[in-house]
Amino acid sequence: MLNEKIQKALNEQLNLEVSSSYEYLAMSAFFETLNFSGFAAWMRVQSTEEYAHALKFYDFILQTNGKVELTQINTPSLHYKTPKDAFEATYKHEQKVTASIHNLVGLAIDSKDYATNNFLQWFVNEQVEEEANALKILERIKMIEDSKGGLLYLDKELGKRGRTA
Ligand code: FEO
Repeated sequence: MLNEKIQKALNEQLNLEVSSSYEYLAMSAFFETLNFSGFAAWMRVQSTEEYAHALKFYDFILQTNGKVELTQINTPSLHYKTPKDAFEATYKHEQKVTASIHNLVGLAIDSKDYATNNFLQWFVNEQVEEEANALKILERIKMIEDSKGGLLYLDKELGKRGRTA
């Protein structure tokens, strides 16, 4: 059974994961408008993954006899005009998600809620990967700067994620 404070925080995280899904879907659309279909495919897969994260919280809340409270999803708010902007925003967003997960872990430990703490460890690991992926792409974009050929090459590389997902 979840205590009220943890239940509220888990529902907030559920909302943040759905919001992340929405943010990355908006980013996918942004890349489509630039005709970078590989970047767009990568973001679309990312959006789907975020929704799957949200469902993990949804299932865990129900499994622990908690109450799922779905709240308003904000309009995507990340700002970007170039692929570099978009991945800078992605990296920052993932850092925000990591901080939120760590905060939840702290709450679970303080409450001696070992089941929630155990559940959250998957997300602690996942966030290491999420940040690393976003940073790697950002660094590669910075490396090629404004080279159109470089961006097109990276676009092709990232598109592979869309085809294997
Ligand atoms: Fe579910 Fe990218 O955090």
